[in-house]
Amino acid sequence: MRVREPPQATCNETRQLWYTSVAKQNKWAEGVRSMKQRDTRNPPLFAVSQRTGGDETVQLDASQLVARFEQWKTINRLSSLRRAIADFKREIHHRTQLNGADSTYVRFNCVHLVNELDQIASSLTLERALYYVDRLIKGVSEVRTGAINDINLNRWKEYDAIQTDSLWLIDRRDGSGVHTADYWGNFVPQIPYQMMMRYTKKGEWVLDTFNGSGTTLIEGQRLGRNTIGIELQHRMVDHAKKLVAAEPNTHEVMVDVVQGDSARIDYKALLAEYGQQSVQLVIMHPPYFDIIKFSDDTSDLSNAPSVENFLEMMGAIVDNAAQVLDKGRYLVVVIGDKYAKGEWIPLGFQTMSEVMKRGFSLKSLVVKNFEDTSGKRTQRELWRYRALVGGFYIFKHEYIFLFKKQ
Ligand SMILES: C[S@@+](CC[C@H](N)C(=O)[O-])C[C@H]1O[C@@H](n2cnc3c(N)ncnc32)[C@H](O)[C@@H]1O
Repeated sequence: MRVREPPQATCNETRQLWYTSVAKQNKWAEGVRSMKQRDTRNPPLFAVSQRTGGDETVQLDASQLVARFEQWKTINRLSSLRRAIADFKREIHHRTQLNGADSTYVRFNCVHLVNELDQIASSLTLERALYYVDRLIKGVSEVRTGAINDINLNRWKEYDAIQTDSLWLIDRRDGSGVHTADYWGNFVPQIPYQMMMRYTKKGEWVLDTFNGSGTTLIEGQRLGRNTIGIELQHRMVDHAKKLVAAEPNTHEVMVDVVQGDSARIDYKALLAEYGQQSVQLVIMHPPYFDIIKFSDDTSDLSNAPSVENFLEMMGAIVDNAAQVLDKGRYLVVVIGDKYAKGEWIPLGFQTMSEVMKRGFSLKSLVVKNFEDTSGKRTQRELWRYRALVGGFYIFKHEYIFLFKKQ
């Protein structure tokens, strides 16, 4: 019996498809027994279900769940196991409030849970099915994480939002909460989100050496990472502070922005003020040389007199921040290229080699699309014409370089 649901289906839709399919394929009369009968037989397993961002989730009682799966392991016929799974899926459909006071709940995305159950039910051998049951038990009862993040590898399939490809096509910037695109040159919140989720654990420390409007700080606060930003412009320091203050700090982390030049800040002294000696992730989103002039300050990288000077200044900032980054942890640099006098200036790769001279190895390189600004959108036709005449390509991407400190 192979029954597959469309991945986007909600729990209800998924279940509906599944029932129809099972009934058709197996002429399974038992499959239409009344819900009432079953409820009196089985204790309620499900607590409240919730829908967040289009994903329906259920909270389940972990010990009851494990007991149920352990019971499946004693079944010695594949058809009986499939029947038990079908019963269980009906319970998902008919879940009720669980009253157990000291129960520990485990949260599941409905689509994922149903997919897991279907994988078991569609196994061709009992041995294989029980292997999947074991895996499900581990997913409920054990958390297995790596050294540098909190991703539970026993439930890795549920991390749909985490990127693992080197090409990111992000069609819409996250505009939730206080995030806005108002600061010309700020990055999409998805970048610090991805980086903190992959390369830090909750409670660790993140440094952003080009804070701007504080996108990294906002994400850090939401994700429970202590985050410090450095920014040259006083007005942007104030602006970022206001944004961060307007977001709830549910994890009660330390989030702060400090005015200064990232090449000169004494990071050790700064971290000591928070009782810290080091950080576990550094994020750098420098000006892309002179594409956007951010201020009149000569220490501002957008005022570097030449590409060579820009690279030197960038190198000094990397050297300075590297002193407080833990060994084996990551530095992220987000940067794009530029055109000058009809030539493509590979700022991204030039910056990359500048960093690699400084005891960092390149772990990954992501190419990310960038959205058109509203100004560029209205001028799209004009740019296309210019590109055809001039024989060049219009910038549509930037880079996210991921370096590991040796
Ligand atoms: C590309 S923006 C960063 C935007 C930021 N990621 C955000 O989402 O808002 C670069 C920022 O670096 C700041 N900056 C430039 N040179 C600096 C330096 N030497 N030290 C600290 N900040 C600097 C600029 O004022 C600007 O706000």
